[in-house]
Amino acid sequence: MLSNFRRLSDYPIEIQRMAKLKIGVLGAGLIGRRHIDTILACPDDAVLVGVADPAIGPDRFPQVKAPFFATPDELLDREKPDAVVIATPNSLHAPQGIDCARRGVHFIVEKPVTESLESAAALLRAVRASGVKTLTGHHRRYLPAVRRARQILSEGRIGRLVGVSVIWATRKPDAYFDVAWRKEPGGGPILINLIHEIDLLRHLGGEIASIAGQVSNGVRGFAVEDTSGAVIRFASGALGTILCTDTGLSPWTIEQGTAENPAFAYTAENAYRFIGTEGSLELPNLKLWSARDPQQIAWDRPLASTPMKVPEHDPYIEQLRHFCRVIQEGEAPLVSAEDGARTLAATLAVTEAGRTQRPVELAAAFRALG
Ligand SMILES: NC(=O)c1ccc[n+]([C@@H]2O[C@H](COP(=O)([O-])OP(=O)(O)OC[C@H]3O[C@@H](n4cnc5c(N)ncnc54)[C@H](O)[C@@H]3O)[C@@H](O)[C@H]2O)c1
Repeated sequence: MLSNFRRLSDYPIEIQRMAKLKIGVLGAGLIGRRHIDTILACPDDAVLVGVADPAIGPDRFPQVKAPFFATPDELLDREKPDAVVIATPNSLHAPQGIDCARRGVHFIVEKPVTESLESAAALLRAVRASGVKTLTGHHRRYLPAVRRARQILSEGRIGRLVGVSVIWATRKPDAYFDVAWRKEPGGGPILINLIHEIDLLRHLGGEIASIAGQVSNGVRGFAVEDTSGAVIRFASGALGTILCTDTGLSPWTIEQGTAENPAFAYTAENAYRFIGTEGSLELPNLKLWSARDPQQIAWDRPLASTPMKVPEHDPYIEQLRHFCRVIQEGEAPLVSAEDGARTLAATLAVTEAGRTQRPVELAAAFRALG
């Protein structure tokens, strides 16, 4: 049994590999609860050592035996976790992440990694100086369908990627907007939802070089957007389009296609279509289209579709187990804070392109992240 008062990194590497990671959770709101339940669901990998939230106490968490604290400082000082999950409002991600890095505490930070490129750069400086291991909470990269899609695309099964078309369209209930910040710039579907699509496109299609965008608040009329359209140019030369709206009713979001989020009604429909020189791939239901006769590829030749279904797993559990391996076994992070910052830069570019009516080249923003 390891003492409560030492961190895993204080022990020899063989012991570290065998031990359970001591993890705390900062912020016990909507997504913090999911992280708490995820840690409790992985007793062989990790132990929940505390929760910090100024507004939420243990009464709402009968399943949690670990102590609750009003501030992250108290949790970090008293429980000395090896790692934390930062699941607090966006503007707290940078200061809390920097504090963790200075204390040598590894962290998963929820998306967006921070609320601005400047604060992302400051966070990355602290992470690099400390050497702590990080993940950004882009949990969809852990979906089995996404992993399989990445494999199919990297094996060249659809040939060279030409383009990708993405729809994320759902209608959020009116009550969702009873919270003031959700009507203000920064509280809309670009930073909350589109960021996940952009992250998946970077993961599956390669780095993004530039983005053109249009943004509209035409349906709800709030200060924040309700709809955006983006045209993406990947570094490879492939193109992509994404329509994102939280005011249109449709069966096409990746959440509805995978049942990853119980708040969304399951439709089993696809939200992504990857198109290559030799075929196409639908995601998330992984239908692979190719020429029936691979020697005859043309519009007048018949196509065949192959289902590539994979069993579903909880992406949050996959993320946590991966995080443990990153810390204890040196596995490369699937989406580090640095990677999350690049996704943030590409996402903010949609708003910028809509405002200026000019495409945004991302090289300068990536450079600013160091
Ligand atoms: N990965 C995803 O799909 C996903 C889904 C939802 C939210 N998120 C992200 O998670 C973060 C939290 O979102 P949410 O929907 O859970 O918000 P929320 O408002 O439900 O929860 C945030 C919690 O943080 C607490 N908090 C505030 N200040 C704090 C502090 N100084 N220290 C500790 N706790 C503090 C609040 O009391 C609240 O309980 C956001 O960055 C959001 O973008 C990610």
